[in-house]
Amino acid sequence: MTDGPSYGFDTLQIHAGARPDPATGARQTPIYQTTAYVFRDAEHAAALFNLQEVGFIYSRLTNPTVSVLQERVATLEGGVGAVCCSSGHAAQIMALFPLMAPGRNVVVSTRLYGGSITQFSQTIKRFGWSATFVDFDDTDAIKAAINDDTRAIFCESIANPGGYITDLDAISAIADAAGIPLIVDNTSATPYLCRPIEHGATLVVHSMTKYLTGNGTVTGGVVVDSGKFDWSASDKFPSLSAAEPAYHGLKFHETFGPLAFTFHGIAIGLRDLGMTLNPQAAHYTLMGIETLSLRMERHVRNATEIAGWLETHPAVEAVTYAGLDSSPYKDRLARICPKGAGGLFTIALKGGYESCLKFVDALEIFSHVANLGDTRSLVIHSASTTHRQLTEAQQVAAGAAPNVVRISIGIEDAADLIADLDQALKKASA
Ligand SMILES: Cc1ncc(COP(=O)(O)O)c(C=O)c1O
Repeated sequence: MTDGPSYGFDTLQIHAGARPDPATGARQTPIYQTTAYVFRDAEHAAALFNLQEVGFIYSRLTNPTVSVLQERVATLEGGVGAVCCSSGHAAQIMALFPLMAPGRNVVVSTRLYGGSITQFSQTIKRFGWSATFVDFDDTDAIKAAINDDTRAIFCESIANPGGYITDLDAISAIADAAGIPLIVDNTSATPYLCRPIEHGATLVVHSMTKYLTGNGTVTGGVVVDSGKFDWSASDKFPSLSAAEPAYHGLKFHETFGPLAFTFHGIAIGLRDLGMTLNPQAAHYTLMGIETLSLRMERHVRNATEIAGWLETHPAVEAVTYAGLDSSPYKDRLARICPKGAGGLFTIALKGGYESCLKFVDALEIFSHVANLGDTRSLVIHSASTTHRQLTEAQQVAAGAAPNVVRISIGIEDAADLIADLDQALKKASA
């Protein structure tokens, strides 16, 4: 397809980045299951290695199937480029890698996926990086947490597990004033429900493992670059603005302009960290994205109906779905995610921790798994699983208190899901 700014989301989710295979005419994007690519001649090889010409060298860096996926996700998010990675967690490290250095810190929301809280509070310390956790509903606290060593702000658009909506407009204004990038994990919302770049985000990361692939077949991640950040406005980001010794003094921002972050992600990040997405996984994710809008509409419709039903159930103490009229995030939802609050939320059970365990064991259609964003409905008791490594205070701050169960509503018949929840709640409170 020719690029056209007027194409709608439903068209772009099928066509963006793809064109009939130049060798065979294959209409579907082939899985280029190859490690290396033959150079035209020695001069061509040297130009590719010098970054003077763009092309395929070795699949740790670039692969044609993965490239189509990169272009598709970048287009859907409204970015200029993207780098696919082997997982969502890999994407988070890849997003921070060019920005951070020993002694630098990132200011992050307390409301994050539990694995991200562990990655930021424990693992990144081994690189000499640190994270300051703040309640992102408290903008003064975010401002106060930023210091001369802060190199990024990180949050989720719709936060896992609670489904809380983050005020991206307010937070990007703080990032702009501090001259640092805002990184938004858009996994739970997807670009169909939320486009963080339109709200000021510099970089968008995804676990493609979730809604983008959509059926629990792939582990993958992506970093999308808005192309809007001026990496040379200060001396805070030397990896992007200063001479790069690994490329004979090339300056990424000066040379590649708005694509500096994307080129750095491929030429340094994938080359040296090696967190590469394989072409089979890229193929499955491309297939999933073709139906993204249709699935998200159904996830939202089902979740709205089911959250409303759960709110009135006598065994349920609270429901966090932002699409409910009773949600404190209702107005923010209309501004940040106008097409709906997604399919992810939590319920607190009056019966407490023990009742939650009985509930997840009694469900029949819902699968008890450590995943979300699948066509099938999923459930997990976060405090005893994904958020197990956290203290109880961190669990409560993350929206995963011991009496809370996370629910990822699938695209099955809502009536069947309600019947399943009803029988499990009866057993849990018996
Ligand atoms: C919101 C969010 N971000 C990131 C991740 C990490 O993704 P992955 O499991 O693909 O590494 C997850 C995983 O559950 C997640 O829910």
